[in-house]
Amino acid sequence: MRVIRGRVFFRGRLEALSLGISEDGKIAAVKKALRGDEEVDHGDALILPGCVDLHVHMRDPGLTQKEDLPSGTRSAAIGGVTTIAEMPNTVPPVTSQTLYERKVETFRGRSAIDYVLYAAPKSEDAITRLREAAAFKAYMAESTGALQIGPKELQGILRGAAVTGKLIVVHAEDPRQFTKVKVNGLEDHSTARPKAAESSALRWLASNRGKAKVHIAHVTCVEALDAVPSGATCEVTPHHLFLDTSSTLGARGKVNPPLRSPADREALWDAFRSGRIDAIASDHAPHTLDEKSVPVDEAPAGLPGVATSFPLLMRRTRAGEIGLESLVGATASRPAEILGIPKGVIELGRDADLIVVDPRAAQRVRAKRLRYKCGWTPFEDMEACFPHTVYLRGDPVIDDGEPAAEGQGRLLATR
Ligand code: DOR
Ligand code: ZN
Repeated sequence: MRVIRGRVFFRGRLEALSLGISEDGKIAAVKKALRGDEEVDHGDALILPGCVDLHVHMRDPGLTQKEDLPSGTRSAAIGGVTTIAEMPNTVPPVTSQTLYERKVETFRGRSAIDYVLYAAPKSEDAITRLREAAAFKAYMAESTGALQIGPKELQGILRGAAVTGKLIVVHAEDPRQFTKVKVNGLEDHSTARPKAAESSALRWLASNRGKAKVHIAHVTCVEALDAVPSGATCEVTPHHLFLDTSSTLGARGKVNPPLRSPADREALWDAFRSGRIDAIASDHAPHTLDEKSVPVDEAPAGLPGVATSFPLLMRRTRAGEIGLESLVGATASRPAEILGIPKGVIELGRDADLIVVDPRAAQRVRAKRLRYKCGWTPFEDMEACFPHTVYLRGDPVIDDGEPAAEGQGRLLATR
């Protein structure tokens, strides 16, 4: 048995413990002391559950000039992510059972970490035929990929989702609230797709949700948080927590829904600290520097973030701005619960997906270290704590900060 030692986040607190890992990569023993045929002692480094990122765009198939599965999942692992939920706006988009099966084939043997795949049905009929998809995505407004649906289709999809009991993740912006302004910078983009568009879409959802299990993607501001339908869960992205319209990123900082003002960003941190945010999800949406090297109004929306989400938040945790329990809850245990997958917790019988991190080892974010295919990060130079070892089912996928295994990820079934 392999034994991994360190200061383990176990049942809500840190404790010096040994984890015994079975042949099939599960946590088989949790003890003060354990002997094994292979022992790895991480000293006083923290051992946390591997992160579950509910929202990534790995661009494979069809958009692999931006990212692909080997590169994107390697980057995810560098940032401590051991499970991703992959969005359906690849090319072709995952709108049917056949296209879902094709995406499963695209992933097979090419992902460094475990994964769940979303589908984007465009009708009630399509949702019932998507038997194998674990969860769905619905776009109420246009963004990368032509997957926007109208209120009639969305009502049908909500009905279908309620019948199947599967999760539906909603991109909640109401296009009727969009304004026609000349977009020269990030503030203009936020005016063009205002906060009111989020609140309006969320009010519509509150009255139309029925019994569907709904999760709200990328909430950008407190006004939108206030409008999240009761019983629904929500996520916030690291870019809405760490960047705002005062940034000098220009077109690189263009994303949907948009970055908001510095005051909105501060208020979002307060909401996070008071436990109002279920999950942090990266919405990793890479575009190449060439694609972003155009005026803001012409640039594609989206920015990369899967490798920096946990490290940026770990740094803030070390600084005392958020508690370790909130960090682990928002990056691992809650997202796993929302998806209905047995991940995100260090517990007997669970997969040994683990991050080993020394919170004192802060580094500046450098694009090169993240290994994105797109080659850039909007968080360049910010301080972060990267994990030095990451285990997937007990085997290192990152060792001493470097990729150590590829292609071992598995497709996960949801409850
Ligand atoms: O900015 C965005 N980019 N928002 C989305 O909803 C999609 C994403 C992408 O895929 O590029
Ligand atoms: Zn997205």
